[in-house]
Order: sequence, then structure tokens, then C-alpha cells
Amino acid sequence: AFIDKIDYYEDLFWVTPETLKKVVTHFVDELNKGNSVKGGNIPMIPSWVMEYPDGSETGEYLAIDLGGTNLRVVKVKLLGDHKFSTEQNKYHIPAELRTTRNKDELFDFIAKCLDDFIQDQNPSGVPEGTVYPLGFTFSYPCLQSSIDAGVLKTWTKGFDIPGVEGHNVVPMLMEKVNARKVPVKVVALINDTSGTLVASRYTDATTEMGVIFGTGVNGAYFDRVQNIPKLQGKLYSDIKPTDPMLINCEYGSFDNEHLVLPRTKFDERIDAESPRPGEQAFEKMTAGYYLGELLRMILCELYEEGLVFKDYKPDSEQIKLLHKPYHLDTSFLAMIEGDDDLIDLPEASALFSSQLFIDATLEERKLARMLCQFIGTRAARLSICGISAVCKKMNHSKCHIAADGSVFAMYPHFPERAAQGLADVFDFPALKEGEKEYPIHIVQAQDGSGVGAAIIAALSDARKAKGL
Ligand code: BG6
Ligand code: GLC
Repeated sequence: AFIDKIDYYEDLFWVTPETLKKVVTHFVDELNKGNSVKGGNIPMIPSWVMEYPDGSETGEYLAIDLGGTNLRVVKVKLLGDHKFSTEQNKYHIPAELRTTRNKDELFDFIAKCLDDFIQDQNPSGVPEGTVYPLGFTFSYPCLQSSIDAGVLKTWTKGFDIPGVEGHNVVPMLMEKVNARKVPVKVVALINDTSGTLVASRYTDATTEMGVIFGTGVNGAYFDRVQNIPKLQGKLYSDIKPTDPMLINCEYGSFDNEHLVLPRTKFDERIDAESPRPGEQAFEKMTAGYYLGELLRMILCELYEEGLVFKDYKPDSEQIKLLHKPYHLDTSFLAMIEGDDDLIDLPEASALFSSQLFIDATLEERKLARMLCQFIGTRAARLSICGISAVCKKMNHSKCHIAADGSVFAMYPHFPERAAQGLADVFDFPALKEGEKEYPIHIVQAQDGSGVGAAIIAALSDARKAKGL
């Protein structure tokens, strides 16, 4: 029964090249629909970044980068000549802040981190009259009517704070910043994918997309104004049809109608039990916020079928923990897959005892490792469908895709599995000796999206200086 069950999960989570291709075909249609006047599931948010950085931008900016797991405050010096330097501090976002009932707590937390950083940087006080221009990376879907404003459409990645959706987040931050007398002014509000794209493009002109494989999943790319019919009537008169527009796709919401993604009963449950059922269908199958929960649900099923943890009674502390939603996070899977001692799997053993107080048998550890492989491989293969669709739509056949986020950076084999997914979609021939990368190649972005926020702030300043 044990072996049958493993085969069952392997089949359930394996995504064939044919399925990937079918998903990508539908994805391209959905991207175009999102740009149409009528709109679609994928928001395709124009970010009002309307030029490519060319590496010559200069200036000194502050950036705050509110990601899925950390808040970073970054001082960025753009040196021109494709070079920059950064000084930064990372602050862990307390878990309870995700769902606080009081929005002021979140924005005051950001303002306080910013204040601490500026004070650290200026031990003898900030010079009188200084106002630092600030780029704000806010990694949630915000509808933008200009570069320095954004109305939160809906919370994603488990955040659920009342009173923010439907509002411009910049004044909410500024209220707290002003209350603490922090000398900053938001000049650009950006998404992490846009920041990743722009920062990488500053140093590598072959970069066509910025993508995140982290707590959430999303991508940004440059389109042409003429391909975005919904912009009609919203453009300044000096804009040409061929001008670029950076689009934050927010493609985590791909297939909210459940037409093509191979959803399992576990995916359906994750969705039903989430704060926003029916939203972020693609993200819920691929992103770091959900991978631990998938594994936990499968382990619960195996326990209920009497196949694992047989020594533990249903009312034991261990099994109560196993039944606690979101008790396991993605690092649990990453560490089990990273356990190199395949004979004993000692790290897996240590993890089961530290996270669940379960003394897992060798057979259970091996099973858990296989489950992690199935879940991690599915996430990597499916998550490249967004990249594939954008490349197909824009006819990018040879380019770099800049990727950031904890899953890409820390989950073992994720980059290779994603590369294989792309090769399956595009039928890339196997790499020959000496060849290092497929024509469409995902590279690890450096230095986080804060740098991109600074570059975007610099581009925006340059536009304003030209009176645009
Ligand atoms: C960071 C970027 O490196 O990755 C952030 O600087 C981004 O802007 C984050 O939001 C995404 O990763 P995670 O794993 O924190 O969601
Ligand atoms: C979620 C957010 C999106 C962000 C992504 C990666 O999908 O909605 O804005 O880019 O996570 O952090």
C-alpha cells in the first residue's frame, strides 16, 4: 500500500511537457486579455515606468523593500557606468503583523525601521532641511495611476489587514513617517518584480523579465504602449505608440477560473481555507507560502490512512501539531531535500523532531523526501509558465530572466527544475558540451529589488526635470 501511495502522489504532482505547453498557450491569451480594454483575470498593471534604464543613472536614494518575509531598508548610490553600491539593514516581519486587525501597526513598523536606519546612518543627526527621496517596494498588487501612488487591489501571500484594500498605500505610510518626523518623501512606488527587472537591466541589458519565486510568484516585463489597449485615454500627449511601459503582471492570479491548471484536492483545500478563496490560483500551486502546507496536508492524509506515525495517538501533541494549518513552512521541505546523507537522512530526522516532536522512521523520512521532490518539482515546472508566456508573447527567444525570492535562492534544485521546465515548453535541444545555458536563461538577481526602486526613482526624477 505504501509503494502504491508513492506512485499515486508522483502521478498526481507530475506535470508533463504537454500539460506545460497547454498551460502556456492559455497563459499567453490571458496576458493579452489583461492588457485589453475589457481586462481579464491577470491584472497586467502599468507601472508608469516608461523607459529602460541604461546604466548611466546616478544619484543617492533610500528604498524600503517590503517582501514576503523581510523588510529591508537600503541606501543605494547609483554610480552610473552600470555600477551601484548599497548599504542595507534587514528586519524580520513579525508573523502576527500579516493579519493584524490594525493597519497602523504595519505602516508604523515600516516607519520605525526607516527611522532606525536613518539614525544609524547619521549618528550626529540628519543635516537640517534634508529630505531623502524614497523608493517604496510594496510587493502586493497595487493599481497605479502614477509612479508615486498605488491602490491595493487585494492582499496576497497570507496578508489580511483590514482597511488597506481599495486605498492608496503611500499616504498611509507617509502618515506614520510624518508622525515620527522621518525626513523622507516617496517618489516611486514599485512592485518587487519591477524592481528586480530594472535593477538587473541596469547591469545586464539582455534582461527581459524580473520574476519572483518566493513567498509569492509574479513577473514583470516591458511591453509597448501600442500593445496595451486599456491605456487609451490615460496617456500624456507626448507618448508614442512604440514607447515602452513596464507591466507588473500579477500573474499569481492566472487561471482563477480553473480552466487549465492541474489542480489536486490539496490545492482546492488550500484555496478554500485561505483568507481569499478563488484568488491567486497559480500562486497557490507554486509559491513558497503554500508548499509547506501541501506537504502537511499529505502527511495528514497518510496518517489518517494509518500509513505513517503509527505510534502516535490522534490526541497526542505531535498529531495536534501536524494538524495545525501552516505549521510547516517551505524551509522544512528545502532542508529535507537538501539532506545529502541519503542512507540515513539525519537532517530530516532532526527536522521531524524539532518541528513536530515526531521520531520519524527511516521509511517515513524517505517517503517525506520523495513527497518534497514531487511538490518542489511541480512548483518549479509550473512556475515557469508565466515566463514562457511572456517570452512567447513578446517574441523573446534569447534572453536573461532575473529571478529573486527565497524559493529560487534557497530551495535545492529549484533553478535546474525550472530550467528543465522551460526546455520542455520550448523544446530546447539538450545542452552540448561547453554550452552553459539554454537560450532563455533564468539568472539569480543580485542585491534585491531595493536597487530597482532607487533606479526607478532616478528615472522618475529625470523625467520630472525634463518637465514630463
Ligand atoms: C527579495 C527582494 O530579495 O525577494 C524583495 O528584494 C522580494 O523585493 C523578495 O519581495 C521575495 O522573496 P520572499 O521569499 O521574501 O517572498
Ligand atoms: C504576490 C504579490 C505580488 C508580488 C509576488 C512576489 O503575488 O501579489 O505583488 O510580486 O507576490 O512577491
